[in-house]
Amino acid sequence: MKNCSLRMPSCVMAGTGSVAGLTDIINTVSARHIALFCDKGVAASGLLEAVSRKIPASYDTYLDIPPEPDYLQVESLLGQVEARGTDLIVALGGGSVMDAAKLVSVLLGAEYSIRDLLKDPAQACKKVPTVMIPTTCGTGSEATCNAIVLVPEDGVKVGIVNNAMIPDYVILDADMIRLLPPGIVASTGLDALCHAIECYTGLKANPLSDLYALEAMRLIFPSIERAVKEPEAMDAKENMLLAAFYGGVAITSSGTTAVHALSYPLGGRHHIAHGVSNAMLLAPVMRFNMVACTDRLAQIHDAVFSNDSTLSSHEKAEAVVSRLEAIVRALDIPTLSSFGISADELASLAQAGLDVRRLMVNNPRPMTLDEAIAIYKEAL
Ligand SMILES: NC(=O)c1ccc[n+]([C@@H]2O[C@H](COP(=O)([O-])OP(=O)(O)OC[C@H]3O[C@@H](n4cnc5c(N)ncnc54)[C@H](O)[C@@H]3O)[C@@H](O)[C@H]2O)c1
Ligand SMILES: [Zn+2]
Repeated sequence: MKNCSLRMPSCVMAGTGSVAGLTDIINTVSARHIALFCDKGVAASGLLEAVSRKIPASYDTYLDIPPEPDYLQVESLLGQVEARGTDLIVALGGGSVMDAAKLVSVLLGAEYSIRDLLKDPAQACKKVPTVMIPTTCGTGSEATCNAIVLVPEDGVKVGIVNNAMIPDYVILDADMIRLLPPGIVASTGLDALCHAIECYTGLKANPLSDLYALEAMRLIFPSIERAVKEPEAMDAKENMLLAAFYGGVAITSSGTTAVHALSYPLGGRHHIAHGVSNAMLLAPVMRFNMVACTDRLAQIHDAVFSNDSTLSSHEKAEAVVSRLEAIVRALDIPTLSSFGISADELASLAQAGLDVRRLMVNNPRPMTLDEAIAIYKEAL
């Protein structure tokens, strides 16, 4: 067995109503002053009010976190939190809010700045513990050591990765996604599926990541369409929330591949939401990768669908990729051209995607510029 490691938050609470556990967490760590991070969309859904009632201490609320923030916006947030004597950060939101919270947790009172971390993330160390309460079902940021920010001057999104950002407490309460708009359930749910399948088929896959990636797929494949199309199907939503967390755990041990690499420039240059850009690329990339990871896809077929000994590995891999294509079609994911992207730009996007070496080196099949362009063309 190859050497591998996996990170996990120290305490994970799950189940409907588990957000009540926030009170215990705050009492356990004896927090005196809390920074509650959220955003305006989540606040408008009524969740902020419900969660605030569970805080038995003084707190400040920070709502000025835009979707997919840039590093300057995180810097400005840090300025607001500084000097408030914060000893616990609670993040209530999707990946944007959680990533901002994770960054502030290593920046409060630090001798380095976020610009320093962009150049050298190794210097980060945790200053304040964190509680993550996800309100989308995709990023798995509640489980990972990563925080992603836009660098506007370069038009790129950058992942800052350091074990110091692993959350301390996580609360997975499906009530938080009960009213999540269906389009966001679809795109963030497909992001979670990308995490699981990329971690399982990537070159860094290992027995620790496989366990979480496979379980995430067992939960997502039968649940995602119901979670989007039947807003009352709380069993499906619970599966999606759990799967998103498992996908994040798998990332800490394996990692994403070409879907995420090619998705990065779409977020950086065109501000396409992370889940949407991954959803557009998922099926074309997996079809391209299929020849290099046929056996791994066949294993997914056996674990998630059925272990049918009359099918060859190739037929099983084909069935998995066809299923991905059908799910993406059924969930009405937009096309690149609907964001104003034309064929002329594909070569430059493809080069930018191939330059995301951190992820591309994990892809099971090497990719040329022309192949990357062909993948974008399928999403056009
Ligand atoms: N750290 C990681 O490991 C990791 C992994 C993947 C992606 N990301 C990052 O996460 C960000 C994307 O996060 P996301 O996909 O969760 O979306 P998001 O946090 O940007 O939220 C999307 C929108 O949904 C709204 N929203 C969220 N929860 C809601 C709810 N329950 N009800 C109503 N509205 C709600 C928000 O207000 C926002 O407008 C990107 O910046 C991406 O790069 C991080
Ligand atoms: Zn992702």
